[in-house]
Amino acid sequence: MKRPIGVFDSGVGGLTVVKELMRLLPNENIIYFGDTARVPYGIKSKETIVKFSLENILFLLKQEVKTIVIACNTSSSTALPLLKRHFKIPIIGVIGPGVKEAIYATRNKRIGVIATKATINSHAYERQIKRLNPKIKVFNQACPLLVPLAEEGWARRKETRDIANFYLKPMKKSGIDTLILGCTHYPLLKEVLRRVLGNSVRLIDSARQVAYETKEILASEGLLNNKKKQGKYIFYVSDELQQFKKLAKNFLGKDIENLKKVNNV
Ligand code: DGL
Repeated sequence: MKRPIGVFDSGVGGLTVVKELMRLLPNENIIYFGDTARVPYGIKSKETIVKFSLENILFLLKQEVKTIVIACNTSSSTALPLLKRHFKIPIIGVIGPGVKEAIYATRNKRIGVIATKATINSHAYERQIKRLNPKIKVFNQACPLLVPLAEEGWARRKETRDIANFYLKPMKKSGIDTLILGCTHYPLLKEVLRRVLGNSVRLIDSARQVAYETKEILASEGLLNNKKKQGKYIFYVSDELQQFKKLAKNFLGKDIENLKKVNNV
């Protein structure tokens, strides 16, 4: 089916998921919406995050998408459980895929989760991990400063390493062997996180797993695009274009072309 896959995030971070979707499903058309006017979601209340997420879903439905990927941990953890049952098309979040991968990876059954405040406060990761394996111990840490650092392109700065060190100190002591990067921005900081935690801790970035799950769901619903043609991509944002364009290159690994501004979603 030619209809596009809709993807949204509070901003630019969801492009880490788009990158994996493009790689795994090269002939799918994708419409991305980055809510750059209202980012960050991670420090907002549940009601606000639900309202924004609902508006983003309605915007993508107007673009006639066949499925929606919520490429934002904050929306997936806080709004998805509430919103999912109200829509007929499949809506895929990023929490489940990350949890599955982390459970598969851990040997000592001690998993760390780093994310925005809203994601940590929702307990979504912890609940899903415990549901699948109650014996696993989960260690949570909100890291609100990491999002702006990733957006600033400060991935290699000493200041970023110091802040990551501060946040991860308790995790290091707890002896985790697996860390879920529970925010779409954190894959950009993998190198610094690895330096802080050492090579023995496995870093879980759910983007690839989300792409696999999307493929599986589209296949099972008979919604895959079987045309052997390169997919087309349209990117929408709710704020100015230049800053997004600049950041997008870091997240997507290439320049984006078809970028448009929407005035109200
Ligand atoms: N996209 C958000 C997430 O993955 C991070 C940025 C924000 O706080 O909105 O949780």
